[in-house]
Amino acid sequence: MDASLPDSLRLSDERVREIAQWGTPIYVLDEAIIRAKIAQYRDALALSWNSTRLGYASKANSTSAVLKIAASEGCWIDVASEGEFRAALLAGIDPAQCYAHGNNKSRVELEFALAQGIGMIVADSFEEISLLASLGSKTPLLLRLAPGVDPKTHGKISTGQDDTKFGFNVSDGSGRRAVEACRDAGLNLIGVHCHVGSQLLDPTAQITGGEVIAQFGQEVFPAFGFELQLVNVGGGLGVRHSGESPLAIQEYCQRVADAIRAVVSDQVILMHEPGRSLVAEAGVTLYSVGNVKDVPSRSHGTRRYVAVDGGLADNPRPALYGAKYELALTPSEPRKLAETQASTISGRHCETDKLFEDVPLPGCVRAGDWVQVFGTGAYNSSMASNYNRYPRPATVLIRLDGSVSEIQRAETWEQVLGREALPEDLV
Ligand SMILES: Cc1ncc(COP(=O)(O)O)c(C=O)c1O
Repeated sequence: MDASLPDSLRLSDERVREIAQWGTPIYVLDEAIIRAKIAQYRDALALSWNSTRLGYASKANSTSAVLKIAASEGCWIDVASEGEFRAALLAGIDPAQCYAHGNNKSRVELEFALAQGIGMIVADSFEEISLLASLGSKTPLLLRLAPGVDPKTHGKISTGQDDTKFGFNVSDGSGRRAVEACRDAGLNLIGVHCHVGSQLLDPTAQITGGEVIAQFGQEVFPAFGFELQLVNVGGGLGVRHSGESPLAIQEYCQRVADAIRAVVSDQVILMHEPGRSLVAEAGVTLYSVGNVKDVPSRSHGTRRYVAVDGGLADNPRPALYGAKYELALTPSEPRKLAETQASTISGRHCETDKLFEDVPLPGCVRAGDWVQVFGTGAYNSSMASNYNRYPRPATVLIRLDGSVSEIQRAETWEQVLGREALPEDLV
């Protein structure tokens, strides 16, 4: 990575003022950081293994400009729904460079994917294998496996354990029966996949998961006449949201490769499909402060609430996973930033909508100031909703030359209200 390039996006006060003109809340992404993270991953894979493939898990941020950047940097695009696939097609990405995930793909989705010429499908259930057979699919197929490892992360983003809705269990023989079913159905099975969890700071689960599925493919594929060509170990590498220290991309890739090398030859393609670690730190969200209240608190004496013009709908992660972030204040006019004071950043939505509890903010914060929240490039815009009928925010991209381009427009009232259908006879 270019030494002059920051590892994560931090907007200068000048940049905050410039971007706030587009309206807040607003998501901001940095093209150079996204490209650099992808290059880091690509180089780390190439250094650690002979034959590699990098996927980008587009659920992390499926803005079509981001997909275009990822594809132009050589990533395959992991799409987990027809909508994500359509966003990739909109970005002009070759469908053969996309591959389909999803634990309950419908016939309609599969028909669309096959008709467009999608490059790979990751099968998740026996029903899907039958559906693909009935559609005459010859598209390269991976089996999603549950390798029976329990990652140390939030329960809502743990997926590698036996008790999961995803894929075929290795331990109870379902994986083996799935390979047999692929043979009986005449499908073009080429590899195995697992994704054990997200925001992982300890690589043990991914390493063990990778070993288990590689071992499985090595033993079971030949028994049914298939050659193991690809092992996809999913994504999951954590990022720094609030003081975490994830492994460096280089070290992570090396450790996974070293473990898998003991199981399969490096002529087999080793694939990773990160999402968060490619885009989270390339993004910030910018909010405006609407009011500041100091209220009596039993536990704190006084609690300061700083209300911003976003929250649950543009970043559901604090409410969903208790996710924490770091943030910074930009005053609306030159002002000496006094000492920091623990503040609760409250969103504008109903429910309690505390975006962040007891984070340090300069005590002089007031209405009209701006707060930027770091590390929001992943699972923010892609998880946003219209709760309380707020329009979803725009996204702007800081380009390689420093200029700023809008890459996703804020929703209009027509879009927010456009689905209504009032029966004429309703009184
Ligand atoms: C199948 C699959 N692959 C990759 C990812 C990307 O994970 P992360 O963003 O943690 O790298 C996910 C995330 O949920 C996933 O479900």
